[in-house]
Amino acid sequence: MDTGKVVARDDDPRVAELLSQGWHVIAESWAAQLDAHAIDTRELSRLAATAGPYGGVRSAESSDVSAILALDAVTLPHYPGDVATHHEALTPVSAGLSATRRAFGVFEHERALAVTYVDLAGHRAEIDFTVVTPELRGRRLGSAVKAASVLALSAEGVRTFRTGGSAENHAILAANGRLGFVVDERWVTLAAPTTAP
Ligand SMILES: CC(C)(COP(=O)(O)OP(=O)(O)OC[C@H]1O[C@@H](n2cnc3c(N)ncnc32)[C@H](O)[C@@H]1OP(=O)(O)O)[C@@H](O)C(=O)NCCC(=O)NCCS
Repeated sequence: MDTGKVVARDDDPRVAELLSQGWHVIAESWAAQLDAHAIDTRELSRLAATAGPYGGVRSAESSDVSAILALDAVTLPHYPGDVATHHEALTPVSAGLSATRRAFGVFEHERALAVTYVDLAGHRAEIDFTVVTPELRGRRLGSAVKAASVLALSAEGVRTFRTGGSAENHAILAANGRLGFVVDERWVTLAAPTTAP
């Protein structure tokens, strides 16, 4: 983490203190939660089905990892925000799938069109990131992969889903709202006052 930056919840007393010392807000972010009991299965099924014309959403397998790495490489500059919402480039290790690191995606031949990665810890799921190939954005594929992942994992016993992102990321905020996620934390990234040379 850049030492000239501080990420803090917006209700953290340090925020007012740092602002009074000349620090300034350079980015805002949020976290949101969806509890299994609040899932609207019919709406999520409808959203997941929007990927039907592209082959549908399925659980990713290890044979999909190279296609996922290719999608990640071309979309790296597309994540808005600052350090709090930074997306680290996937590697063959971090893209690897396991019982606690799952992915759901839309795949066409050897290409990944959309993918979402989810880290599991007991009955909790933390959505790491969601990405759609640039030319197919705005066709609800991002919503579809997230909806399908929530449906599949809740059926496997996950009770709590967490996600987060940049306040500038209107598409993922809208997608989460439609899925039923409720924003329960807001964060700010503060930068230190610039010192004169
Ligand atoms: C964020 C992202 C995954 C969204 O995927 P997508 O398939 O384009 O999104 P959807 O088509 O499912 O749209 C979801 C909602 O956002 C809205 N939306 C889409 N693009 C938008 C935009 N540029 N501005 C505002 N709203 C937008 C849609 O209208 C939809 O809302 P609705 O269901 O109420 O109509 C995609 O833009 C992306 O890959 N971005 C780069 C990576 C990233 O930022 N990922 C998220 C952080 S992990």
